[in-house]
Amino acid sequence: MAKTVVITGGTDGIGAALARALAARGDRAVVLGRHRERGERLVRDGGGAISFLEADLSLMSGTRAVAAGLRDAHPVIDGLVLCARYFQTSRVVTEEGFEHNFALFYLSRAVLGEELAGALGRAARPVVVNVAGPGHDTPIDWDDLQSTRGYDGVRAMFQAGRLNDLLGVDFARRHPGIAYALFHPGTTATGFAGDYDPATAAFIEQQKALAKPATEVVPPLLALLDEPPSASLSAFHLHTELDVRNGLFDPADAARLAGLGLTSSR
Ligand SMILES: NC(=O)c1ccc[n+]([C@@H]2O[C@H](COP(=O)([O-])OP(=O)(O)OC[C@H]3O[C@@H](n4cnc5c(N)ncnc54)[C@H](OP(=O)(O)O)[C@@H]3O)[C@@H](O)[C@H]2O)c1
Repeated sequence: MAKTVVITGGTDGIGAALARALAARGDRAVVLGRHRERGERLVRDGGGAISFLEADLSLMSGTRAVAAGLRDAHPVIDGLVLCARYFQTSRVVTEEGFEHNFALFYLSRAVLGEELAGALGRAARPVVVNVAGPGHDTPIDWDDLQSTRGYDGVRAMFQAGRLNDLLGVDFARRHPGIAYALFHPGTTATGFAGDYDPATAAFIEQQKALAKPATEVVPPLLALLDEPPSASLSAFHLHTELDVRNGLFDPADAARLAGLGLTSSR
C-alpha cells in the first residue's frame, strides 16, 4: 500500500531528492518549505504523488498551523522526515523571540513531531527520521541554548544538532510505538540554504564541488522508511548504525531539555 511521508525542507537538497524518489515508486510525499516556486515545480514533476504546503517552520505558529492542516488532510502518516535547516552567519531572532537556528533546527522539529504523533501512531510501522548530525560532541551550553553570548553560526547549528539528539531520546521514551531514527547524511552537495559571509560561502562552494549528490542519500532514507528500526531510538550515518548508548544521548539530559517546556511556550 502507498505510504504517506511528510518531508520538511523538502523543496531542496536531500528532502527534494527523497520526495522525487518516493513519487517515482508510487508513494505520496507531502513537502513543506517556504519557496512556493520550488514546491510547485516538485508538484508538477511528481505526477500527482507530491503535494506542497508553504510554511515558515522557524515560527512555532507556522509549524502548528501546518501540522493542523496535515492532520486534517492525512489522518495516517507513515513517515516524518525532518530536513529543514538554514545557516545564519549573524544571530537572528524570530518574531516569536527565538534564536533562528534554535527555532528552525530544533524547536520546530520537536513541535512537529509532537503535533503529528497521533497521525503517525495510526500507521502500521511509523517512523520519524531526523536528518541532522547525530553523535557530534559539541558541548551543550545549558545556560545559553539560544547562543546569546559570542554568537558563532557553526556552533549555534551544532548545538541545535545536539538538542536534536536529546529530542530523539525523549520522543522515543514517550512514543515507543513510533521508531525515531537520527540520521547523518554526511557532506552532500545540496542547496546549503543560509545567509553566509563571503568566506563561508566560498568554503561551502568548495565542499559542494567535492561532495556526493543528494540522490546518494536517498537509498538509506528509503530503507529506514521501508523497514523502520525495531529499537524506539536509533542513529545512522548513511547505512552505518551508530551507538546511542553513550553520554551524548543521556536520558537525564533529554529529560532536562524536555523539562524546560520550550515546545509549549508559544
Ligand atoms: N548537505 C550536507 O552536507 C549535510 C551534512 C550534514 C547534515 N545535513 C542535514 O541534512 C538536512 C537536509 O540538508 P540539505 O543540505 O539537504 O538542505 P538544503 O539543500 O540546504 O535545503 C534546506 C531546506 O530547508 C528548507 N527551509 C529553510 N528554511 C526554512 C524555513 N524557515 N521554513 C521551512 N523550511 C525551510 C528549505 O526550503 P525553502 O527554501 O523552500 O524554505 C530547503 O528545502 C539538514 O537537516 C542538514 O542539517 C546536511
